[in-house]
Amino acid sequence: MHLKDAIKLRRSIRSFQNSDVSSDVIEHILSLAIEAPSAGNLQPWRIIILSKKEDKKEVAKIAYNQNFITQAPYTIIIAADTKKCMSVYGVRGRDLYSIQDTSALIENILLIATDCGLGTCWVGAFDEKALAEFLDLPDGIRPVAIIPIGYPAENPPNRGRTPLRDILTWF
Ligand SMILES: Cc1cc2nc3c(=O)[nH]c(=O)nc-3n(C[C@H](O)[C@H](O)[C@H](O)COP(=O)(O)O)c2cc1C
Repeated sequence: MHLKDAIKLRRSIRSFQNSDVSSDVIEHILSLAIEAPSAGNLQPWRIIILSKKEDKKEVAKIAYNQNFITQAPYTIIIAADTKKCMSVYGVRGRDLYSIQDTSALIENILLIATDCGLGTCWVGAFDEKALAEFLDLPDGIRPVAIIPIGYPAENPPNRGRTPLRDILTWF
């Protein structure tokens, strides 16, 4: 699939088929996604994959009962190593680059998953402290996104975008 088609076809998917996804496909997606840029090439990301039903249920609860998370065979959690960024770039690294770097990784995951015929949703609404505790994350490892991933059971229309002319300034 061409990159532009993956960008055009990607949608947030909130309903998943009850079919398995090979762990090889997940690793294929992640091994490409980590080609994302990061400030100073620090690559301050951690990736945690959950597949047990009870773990996914707990994560859905922590995400304010976004229960569609439990439907997908895998839930990928992306976390940022804020201390690593802080050690090189100070507060700007901790508060901004760590989030930008992990966001670049997340977008790559969504697009490569689309290319593989898989559906995803970038879930950002969750109790951060509760998720860090549940995953037993060390201090400074900040969970940034929850990504349920699986074969889609819906084909939502394009949700529309503000026209470029309304947001673009040639300065
Ligand atoms: C930072 C961020 C947080 C988001 N959090 C959630 C979320 O908690 N739950 C959800 O269902 N979708 C969430 N989304 C998905 C957006 O709702 C979605 O991308 C947007 O409505 C556009 O739809 P599309 O992805 O299908 O193009 C989030 C997206 C981003 C980028």
